[in-house]
Amino acid sequence: MGEADAVGAREGELAAFGGAAHALVDGVVDHLAALPSRPVWRPLPDALRKQLFGLRLSEQPAVMEDLVATVLRDVLPHAMGNGHPAFFGWVKPPPSRAGVMASLAAAAMNPSVVCGDHADIHLERAVVRWLAELVGFPHAPGAGLLTGGGSAATIVCFAGARSRALAAVGDDVGRDGLAGAAQLIAYVPAEAHSCVRRALELLGLGSGVMRELPLGGGRLDATALRASIAADRASGALPALLVGSAGTVNAGAIDPLEALADVATAEGLWFHVDGAYGAFGVLDPAIAARYRGIEQADSLVLDPHKWLGVPVDAGCALVQRGDDLRDAFSLIAPYLRQDVDAPVGTFAEYGLEQTRPFRALKPWATIARTRTRRHRRPGRARERARA
Ligand SMILES: Cc1ncc(COP(=O)(O)O)c(C=O)c1O
Repeated sequence: MGEADAVGAREGELAAFGGAAHALVDGVVDHLAALPSRPVWRPLPDALRKQLFGLRLSEQPAVMEDLVATVLRDVLPHAMGNGHPAFFGWVKPPPSRAGVMASLAAAAMNPSVVCGDHADIHLERAVVRWLAELVGFPHAPGAGLLTGGGSAATIVCFAGARSRALAAVGDDVGRDGLAGAAQLIAYVPAEAHSCVRRALELLGLGSGVMRELPLGGGRLDATALRASIAADRASGALPALLVGSAGTVNAGAIDPLEALADVATAEGLWFHVDGAYGAFGVLDPAIAARYRGIEQADSLVLDPHKWLGVPVDAGCALVQRGDDLRDAFSLIAPYLRQDVDAPVGTFAEYGLEQTRPFRALKPWATIARTRTRRHRRPGRARERARA
């Protein structure tokens, strides 16, 4: 193909994209407009289920218009239903329109958000700070990152907790693994989300190290907890992690976070709070006081893709000390690009992923559209509620 042909082909492809993309955006707008007047959920027709399941690669590349037609006809109308105003499936919200819009731009940029001087990097740092500010969690640059969801964020946080606890007794889990290491113990509420247990299992600590927190009627029996910690220490184990929930799945309960923080501080444990959906409840002055203590957590998990309405996926791990994550995750191969002299380092040094999607644009757009500085100081709301 000559250069003129190549330029013509490129222009043709761009024109096809422009036409199809506009048609898709129009279709999405119509879909969202019509949604409230339709049933929340409609069973997938048998024929369509079979067709989708059995899709085969075609002989020829599809044209853009056909892709759009397929999406609008066969896919968009058959969603889970959580875009509907009458969907009451608890923590799965409709997507914010700003977030839907931002998803298109993020895909068009398609960066790997790890390091470098590009917009997505700085935007993720700002969004993580915004999230911390919204729920009243202290934040320093580097002390958090966006993840695929609350489960992934929990693994990130617990990896930090594991490294710190073992390093304190001279064990290097990165180098030596867990064989021969001290046995870490985790104190976990009975109602904790299953991702807590799964993270402990995946990190090689095992669910057998979980001790149930003595919580009754929403109160912590701190004496019983401290006795349990002392018994574990006496048996040679290493109490390491204390978990609280800021919004349990079944009852929506907020654990007594301040009392948990007090024990964690007194006993030198890593205090983790699962605020996946519930931490954003702190923005309501009527219940803000119940969240007192969240700001003392060593780590906090948030899920902007739950009550904030950010399109999936958008989870967030926040920590008091970014170095706790960096110590657990940093592994810099010679072929990886570095930010020389950057005090904070790359996102890959703080979590599981090397290639990272541009998650930040969706929460940025969603929060910028729905929140203002007025919403940002739950500490003040808590004070008002206490007064
Ligand atoms: C309280 C709580 N924690 C953690 C999670 C796990 O988050 P994700 O589904 O984003 O991995 C959920 C999910 O519903 C949850 O409700």
